[in-house]
Amino acid sequence: MTPYRLGILAMYLSEQRLEELSYFRKLSTYGHKLGIQILVFTPDDVDKNKKKIKALVYDVASGKWQRKWALLPELIYDRCRYHGVHNFHKISRFRAVHKKLHYLSSPLANKWSMHQALSEDSVIADHLPATVRYNDHQDMIRLLKQHQRIYLKPRNGTGGRGIVRLQRISNSTFLMQGRDEQRRIIPQQKISESQISTKLSSWRLQGRYIVQQGISLTLKDGRVHDFRMLIQKDGKGEWQVTGCAGRIGPMHSVTSNLHGGGTAIGMEKLLMRRFGNKEKVASIQQEAYKLGIDIAHFLERKFGKQCEIGIDLAIDPKGKVWLLEVNPKPSREVFYRIGERETYRKAITRPLEYALWLHHNKNKNKIPEEQD
Ligand SMILES: Nc1ncnc2c1ncn2[C@@H]1O[C@H](COP(=O)(O)OP(=O)(O)OP(=O)(O)O)[C@@H](O)[C@H]1O
Ligand SMILES: [Mg+2]
Repeated sequence: MTPYRLGILAMYLSEQRLEELSYFRKLSTYGHKLGIQILVFTPDDVDKNKKKIKALVYDVASGKWQRKWALLPELIYDRCRYHGVHNFHKISRFRAVHKKLHYLSSPLANKWSMHQALSEDSVIADHLPATVRYNDHQDMIRLLKQHQRIYLKPRNGTGGRGIVRLQRISNSTFLMQGRDEQRRIIPQQKISESQISTKLSSWRLQGRYIVQQGISLTLKDGRVHDFRMLIQKDGKGEWQVTGCAGRIGPMHSVTSNLHGGGTAIGMEKLLMRRFGNKEKVASIQQEAYKLGIDIAHFLERKFGKQCEIGIDLAIDPKGKVWLLEVNPKPSREVFYRIGERETYRKAITRPLEYALWLHHNKNKNKIPEEQD
């Protein structure tokens, strides 16, 4: 039987280096078992006539990647994350030229537009920390007067880069701490209100940043934490929470991202450590899972079809669940790190099973027929 073909839209980060190649290898291996051929390509690999691609195909038998010319597949799994304006334009151009292809997920929005969109839903809005766009210094000060801590985050930031936390310790004194654009830790410093703007003068905050109420997430040992939830469509086209894991940041970090040195821990284990009560933990988990599914449905209604999303959740000392961020191209390594092998396997196979479901429901889902 000819395998069904799924194209992975990727991006060269530097000379021929692809982000997530090991994920694509695993997709290829599982895909092989399910009768799906994975073709990895970037917008730079499309021929002049825009019909063929010079794809990377993983040969399961030899364990090697091979380059092959192939017709553009009808279904595309876009895995391109934000890596600067240049790459962003390249991907947008590809998607604009190849509008007729079927994409597993529609594009979402930056952190600010996402916050505005999510605020439209009253159930989700209850879980959103107060957030404003940074227009001027006063926007930040106003939020800092209302909340004990605030986070400054770039609208298009990823991986915990360029993030500052400000905490009020008295009426006139604040603690500033963060991560620069290269993700280096900015050590904690005590500053006065008037020093804030001087300290942040080189950060180009205006129009580029959001200011967000900070949730209290410091553990007893001084490290911060949060949770990453992966929500995916299954082989029946229905939303499921595949898993949720805790992340604990390294010492002196205001972010918990794994790429910034964070460690992963099971959700229940971390919640038990914090709340020490099974019923409380179960009810928090239930609330978080429901929120995850609500968000997935909402995003689909608002932005069009999706196949998976990752959300960063914060659970405050009272057990209230907050949504920190939505990730349209989530990674799944966190489940491997905590040893949840079955969750990890599902996290990889679900996009494949969903692609097959789409294929089998072609007419219903309006996927164009493959041309030879
Ligand atoms: N409002 C907040 N309150 C407490 N902690 C926060 C808040 N916002 C962010 N953080 C911490 O900073 C980390 C990074 O923030 P966020 O997820 O918004 O951006 P990012 O990681 O740069 O984006 P991405 O997840 O797309 O890579 C969070 O995982 C969390 O540890
Ligand atoms: Mg994040």
